[in-house]
Amino acid sequence: MSSTATARQIVPEITVSHSASPMKIVVVGHVDHGKSTLVGRILNETGALPEGKVEYLKEVCEKRGMPFEWAFVMDALQAERDQGITIDTAQIRFKSEARPYVIIDAPGHKEFLKNMVSGAASAEAAVLVIDAHEGVQEQSRRHGYLLHLLGLRQIAVAVNKMDLVNFDQVRFEEVKAEIVAYLNSIGVEPTHVIPVAARSGANISTSSSDTPWYTGPSVLGALDGFIPAKPATDLALRLPVQDVYKFDERRIIAGRIESGRLKVGDTLVFSPSGKVAKIATIETWGNSLASVSAGAGQSVGITLDEQIFVERGNVASLEHHVPHLSHSVKARVFWLGRGPLKVGSRYKLKLATAEHVVEVTAIERVIDVEDLANHQGSEVARNAVAEVVFRGKSPIAHDSFVDNPRLGRFVLVEGYDIVGGGVIAETPPEERLQNRSTHITVVPHKVDAETRAIANGHRGGVVWLTGLSGAGKSTIAMEVERQLFLKGWQVTVLDGDNVRNGLCADLGFSSADRTENIRRVGQVANLLAEAGMVVVTSFISPFRSDREKVRAIDPDAFHEIHIATDLAECERRDPKGLYKKARAGEIADFTGITSPYEPPELPELILSTRERSVDESVADLLRYIESTFSLTAREQANGWGL
Ligand code: ADX
Repeated sequence: MSSTATARQIVPEITVSHSASPMKIVVVGHVDHGKSTLVGRILNETGALPEGKVEYLKEVCEKRGMPFEWAFVMDALQAERDQGITIDTAQIRFKSEARPYVIIDAPGHKEFLKNMVSGAASAEAAVLVIDAHEGVQEQSRRHGYLLHLLGLRQIAVAVNKMDLVNFDQVRFEEVKAEIVAYLNSIGVEPTHVIPVAARSGANISTSSSDTPWYTGPSVLGALDGFIPAKPATDLALRLPVQDVYKFDERRIIAGRIESGRLKVGDTLVFSPSGKVAKIATIETWGNSLASVSAGAGQSVGITLDEQIFVERGNVASLEHHVPHLSHSVKARVFWLGRGPLKVGSRYKLKLATAEHVVEVTAIERVIDVEDLANHQGSEVARNAVAEVVFRGKSPIAHDSFVDNPRLGRFVLVEGYDIVGGGVIAETPPEERLQNRSTHITVVPHKVDAETRAIANGHRGGVVWLTGLSGAGKSTIAMEVERQLFLKGWQVTVLDGDNVRNGLCADLGFSSADRTENIRRVGQVANLLAEAGMVVVTSFISPFRSDREKVRAIDPDAFHEIHIATDLAECERRDPKGLYKKARAGEIADFTGITSPYEPPELPELILSTRERSVDESVADLLRYIESTFSLTAREQANGWGL
């Protein structure tokens, strides 16, 4: 394969699915555990094999004096596929009484993972095959991990070769307990665990008399019980804006409806701005008649009842089902770049019609596609799959791939080359804070940041002072506030001791309480910054990850200032006598003594109060704030950002 791929190879054209389309399944498991035999059996039981194929192969086996194996059927089909003999060479299809199926397969792990991770082929359900005799092996765990990677929720585990263990229920329960425990540990819940003998056909399409103790469904029964993915039109509305055309006074917003439906009169929310307007008309391309409604797969042009600012890359949705909006996204990536993907590298992330400059902030796992082993690493080599966290300069409107594939996949571009493709992972439970309360609709402001900045003569933002107790944070913060206020600035200070008197009066100094303290303060600081203020905060905020989370709320507005007075100096000053008490064991978890402090790695500014007087530090910080937040004369005169 050439070093660069085209967008088409990675993000295929989306076809509108409908209820008659086959359910896509994957069958994973070690080859020796009987994957081919199981598939061969399913095809046979459902009458999907070419007429006479099995009889022919049985004859050949007999002539050669070897026992017939169902896997031979698969080998024969594979050989035909390789030579392109059968017409439908790409996929294995079969039909149960309930519905048609297609087994998504690929020549090797690499191709398979590339297709799956890039969303080119998305399975709706999976069968994981495990050998009852050998039990759960490293390979089974890796295949299980693969299911997690693909975000699959409907899984039938076939404990195969039950005939080799005399259909022993005890052995079955052992293997079942082992695989269920492993899958649960990675967040996967198998739907059914089925004792199977693929060779003899036990529990493949009907329940077998060999396992009277088993009351669950057969493999086919389990598949038939799975729920097909919703057709695109039934998902939430997602209309990525392709272009905005201006005709006289009218503006037509053009794009392809990726999912859901819309109609005249619907209220649309445009992400990321949150601006809202109603659909006045719908114009369908190539159709002179205006429509009243349109759905997934259609390209439309719409006009709105209000002139709001909309641009390419925005996503229109309906009020109560807006996409997620965040600066950071966790994703599963298939990496194709010549050089490795690294923490700190920047790429262009193209998601629907939006383009975001993103930085890799973490590589959580790297999976070797040859042996599916997963390990920790700081780099992702070409053709590897990894779980990666990206942070964008601007908020990214997205869905998780399992919720809505149309807004849940992306490509990565470096220069002009596509260097990777991926899907957005589900939001982990601990990050779902904002989703805990349902029926919440974010109400957009009618005064925007630009208007506020022009009125104030400066932008809003957060100036986050961090450092040990006694470092001088509060002293500097209060003096900076006074001086900026005298100059007419909109400014305030949030201070640790003050906030702990009210907003955070329920919190102490354990790590968890400090984390919650900083989370709340971070949210308040950002609300005030959005209101146009310069917010100077004065908190020890000892943990790097807590400060990074505050930064992530709005990276452009966040400025980290390290008040780098060292412990010896803070303890010498001891303005509140707390170090003395901490040394005497009277205060627990005291930062610097019995609780850690993690200094910033790359703060926007470092102030050391040891070498410089308070006045000098205040002057340094004032200079930084004025040069960073003031509007230029041109911005002031012309309006800013528009
Ligand atoms: S933080 O760790 O959660 O950021 P914060 O800045 O709000 O701390 O509060 C620190 C202030 O609380 C200190 O200036 C000090 O006056 C007081 N304090 C009381 N107990 C402790 C403690 N165990 N560790 C640090 N500061 C403490």
